[in-house]
Amino acid sequence: MGILLSLLFFISLFLFLFLLFKLVTADGDFTLVSKKHVKREEIEDKVVWITGASRGIGEILAKQLARLGAKLILSARNEAELERVKSQLIGKHAPDEVKILPLDLTSGEDSLKAAVEKAESIFPGSGVDYMIHNAAFERPKTSALDVTEDSVKATFNVNVLGTISLTRFLVPFMLKRGKGHFVVMSSAAGKTPAPGQAIYSASKYALNGYFHTLRSEVAQG
Ligand SMILES: NC(=O)c1ccc[n+]([C@@H]2O[C@H](COP(=O)([O-])OP(=O)(O)OC[C@H]3O[C@@H](n4cnc5c(N)ncnc54)[C@H](OP(=O)(O)O)[C@@H]3O)[C@@H](O)[C@H]2O)c1
Repeated sequence: MGILLSLLFFISLFLFLFLLFKLVTADGDFTLVSKKHVKREEIEDKVVWITGASRGIGEILAKQLARLGAKLILSARNEAELERVKSQLIGKHAPDEVKILPLDLTSGEDSLKAAVEKAESIFPGSGVDYMIHNAAFERPKTSALDVTEDSVKATFNVNVLGTISLTRFLVPFMLKRGKGHFVVMSSAAGKTPAPGQAIYSASKYALNGYFHTLRSEVAQG
């Protein structure tokens, strides 16, 4: 009986430590505990376009994807910061073959259409395989009743309108090739109420609505 209890104790301890390890390596996010690591063959030599790559999560993504052998296109407004990020990348195609494509998501359809055309031709013979919509604008916190029309426009122009325009212009190229993926950075605020972040939250809900609908219309398999 004593041996059985000791065995049960050690098995429970092992399971607890294993789950703790998984949780820590998933950055404390329970929803990521079951996610597998990205396979190198899914990324190596693929063209990955990241918006908001000049700092924060976009910069980290660029570093990780460069290490996995991606051919990267980095976008944001600040060209000097994009160059800084590029210079720090290490990988099969980095830093020398990493392309910088500065853009402002609020610059309007014509300019964003030109950016998509440039991204599609920047690596001869291969268009964009993965578009990572990571750029976003977040205002300082205000209550839902205190937001102004200007603050709604400032957030939606970047997070929603610019992101949707890039997508609309890129999808036809992907459909023609019969392949392509979008990765959209949402937020907990795009799934649950976020006091003080009504407009940011609304912009993320809007993206969920747009991309779920897009998938229902064009995705195969
Ligand atoms: N950080 C978090 O805790 C967190 C949590 C949940 C979700 N997210 C989401 O994760 C993503 C990245 O977050 P982050 O914290 O890394 O953001 P961040 O540090 O504020 O960086 C935002 C990026 O977006 C770019 N950007 C802003 N306005 C732009 C515009 N008009 N045109 C083009 N690019 C523009 C910025 O570059 P320039 O200024 O050079 O243009 C920058 O590279 C966002 O979608 C955010 O909503 C973040």
